[in-house]
Amino acid sequence: MDVILGIETSCDETAASIVLNGHKVCSNVVASQISQHAVYGGVVPELAAREHLKAITPVTKEAIEKADVNVSDIKAIAVTNGPGLMPALLVGLNFARGFAASNKIPLIGVNHFIAHIYSAFLNNTDLLKVPETYPILALVVSGGHTALVLINKDNSADIIGTTIDDAAGEALDKGAKLLNLGYPGGPIIDKIARSGDPNKYKFPRSLTGGAGKPLSKQNRFNFSFSGLKTSLLYHIEKLGGIDSFRDDIMHDTVASYQNAAVDVLCIKTLNAAKYFNAKSVVLCGGVAQNSLLRDELESRLPKHIKFILTAKEFCGDNAAMIAGLGWHYYKNDKFDDLGLDAYSRLPKFTTVPFVH
Ligand code: KG4
Ligand code: ZN
Repeated sequence: MDVILGIETSCDETAASIVLNGHKVCSNVVASQISQHAVYGGVVPELAAREHLKAITPVTKEAIEKADVNVSDIKAIAVTNGPGLMPALLVGLNFARGFAASNKIPLIGVNHFIAHIYSAFLNNTDLLKVPETYPILALVVSGGHTALVLINKDNSADIIGTTIDDAAGEALDKGAKLLNLGYPGGPIIDKIARSGDPNKYKFPRSLTGGAGKPLSKQNRFNFSFSGLKTSLLYHIEKLGGIDSFRDDIMHDTVASYQNAAVDVLCIKTLNAAKYFNAKSVVLCGGVAQNSLLRDELESRLPKHIKFILTAKEFCGDNAAMIAGLGWHYYKNDKFDDLGLDAYSRLPKFTTVPFVH
């Protein structure tokens, strides 16, 4: 069994994990900094870096101890080197470079975005070996990304749609901020929405071709969430400001707002799945924890399409997905040198390493 140590520090979670052979998760330790950033209403990059610096050693130690392995058993260290917040990424990357050098093991740089897709397969690696799984359409929804990715049996991959402004998680976080609900907004909205009427207020479903606006070909599978946030602002003003919101108005507003975001995600995913004749649909990323999105996408997908839902524990940022994906590079002897650099934006990619 190949023991891989994964490290993740791209945003506001310091995470370390031990995964065997790309799927057996022996430990998955995540130290969240949410409470430190909550007072600022969002992630402060320098603060994130300082917190990673404090947490990285104890978190890694805990991951190794919980997995009950020795440092000498570790075959390689996989680390997120992008995309993400540069000061945050550099902490994990430098730690991993030092760990690799001092233990004389290979260093493997992992793309955080592709790792989110892989997270759906941590409990389902067998599906990757079955031809009937392909093509896979992955909906990646997080605080930084909203994208549809098509993955074919021959390893080729293509981002067929992406957000042209805010990410879905960002829309939920910003919406919650406008409603004074706290940070991060996604889980708070998820909870409050359960006691509201999702059809009480009409919020826009941008780029779905509704409201008499024909959809351009180039935006067919793209997303836009900035209009949703603006319409929430108008809605709040129209109803006299949030200070005058009764509980039922707040709950209905939150439920309707979440419903609009989820509806768009489902419409786009279903259209793309049909257009590309996808045999399976993956839902992954932090927003994939959303209960309405999990239920709606599953119930709206035609039964002949397999729904591959990421386990909740692997949806948010974690290092199990980094160690798991890292193993696929390890077994193909694809290592990075110790000068490995970090990058902040998602680079164009044309293949994924986990299809065999
Ligand atoms: O993947 P992730 O942990 O970090 C990024 O790579 O961005 O995703 C974080 C995002 C945040 O926007 C957060 O509000 C959202 O995931 N989120 C949720 C839920 N839990 C986390 N959104 C909706 N419903 C949830 N239950
Ligand atoms: Zn993420």
